[in-house]
Amino acid sequence: MTNQHSKIQNQIILTGDRATGPLHLGHYVGSLRQRVTLQNYNDQTILVADMQGLTDNANTPSKVSSNILNVVADYLAVGIDPAQTTICLQSQLPALSEITMYYSNLVTIARLERNPTVKAEINNKGFNRSVPAGFLTYPISQAADITAFNASLVPVGDDQLPMLEQTNEIVRKVNSLAGKKVLSECQPLLSKSSRLPNTDGRTKMSKTMGNAINLGSSPDEITAAVKSMYTDPMHINIKDPGKVEGNVVFTYLDAFHPDGAYIESLKEHYRTGGLGDATTKRILDECLQEILKPIRQERSRLLSEPSYLLQVLEQGSRIAKSKTERTLHRIKEVFGLNLFNLE
Ligand code: TRP
Repeated sequence: MTNQHSKIQNQIILTGDRATGPLHLGHYVGSLRQRVTLQNYNDQTILVADMQGLTDNANTPSKVSSNILNVVADYLAVGIDPAQTTICLQSQLPALSEITMYYSNLVTIARLERNPTVKAEINNKGFNRSVPAGFLTYPISQAADITAFNASLVPVGDDQLPMLEQTNEIVRKVNSLAGKKVLSECQPLLSKSSRLPNTDGRTKMSKTMGNAINLGSSPDEITAAVKSMYTDPMHINIKDPGKVEGNVVFTYLDAFHPDGAYIESLKEHYRTGGLGDATTKRILDECLQEILKPIRQERSRLLSEPSYLLQVLEQGSRIAKSKTERTLHRIKEVFGLNLFNLE
């Protein structure tokens, strides 16, 4: 498989995931695969965003706490190497919260309410009129995450672009307050295939939609999900011509099957007629089973050793802590608030 990210070098990279559920195939094609490549020639940090996870789960905090180690296991199972990537836990980095408080004074409520991702999420999550302050302000905390590590490159899906725009606005404000360059702006690294659809073909794969294929899904769960995939509802008899566009089975084959030429020939066959959905689904099922088997096995081996996963997270958090504290120090200086240091 060709990789567009193999040429990216010497960047400070920060990515993060809310720890609100196990990671799924959408994460795998959208970001996890790239992180495995990026870790080779860049300074990469991955933040397990447990505090951000609480911004819409404060009433069910166990949804976050119970998923932290699952997410770490997901990372390691796909090949993210803790010797090359710093994996750290947001709630163990108090400098991030302090930076968030300073930035909060630089962002208006109207600006937060205009953030298109926040707006869409508020509508989807059914907060009604009672949006938690922490939720409305999470773009500020994400700006703190990104700038605390001095990230130059942030691999994200396109739904996160408004967060990076807000981050860069804050960076410019801080720099103009300081009258010099204290913080650097970041660039998004957009994944080409970040929009893996759900099996129903209507929504993007997500932790909350219920029918995602997780990295830890069992063979039977994978088969059931593939069988339920949306294809072409007008393709009733095998001999009939079928539509490839919007056919979830082909979208997944494009994303996962190693032999692109073979998939193109299948598409041609499907379009002309004579290729049934049972066959395309069987090919996809075999392909996904093959990819997910070693990941699932490694994941469950890792989860049987939670003390190792904790140790990875603790060591990474220790490295991250001193980085974020250095940035906090520089930001306090901008506001003239570094009078003394109690430690
Ligand atoms: N908002 C991201 C998500 O929904 C998670 C996240 C938190 C993040 N902090 C970040 C992503 C910093 C990139 C950089 O998954």
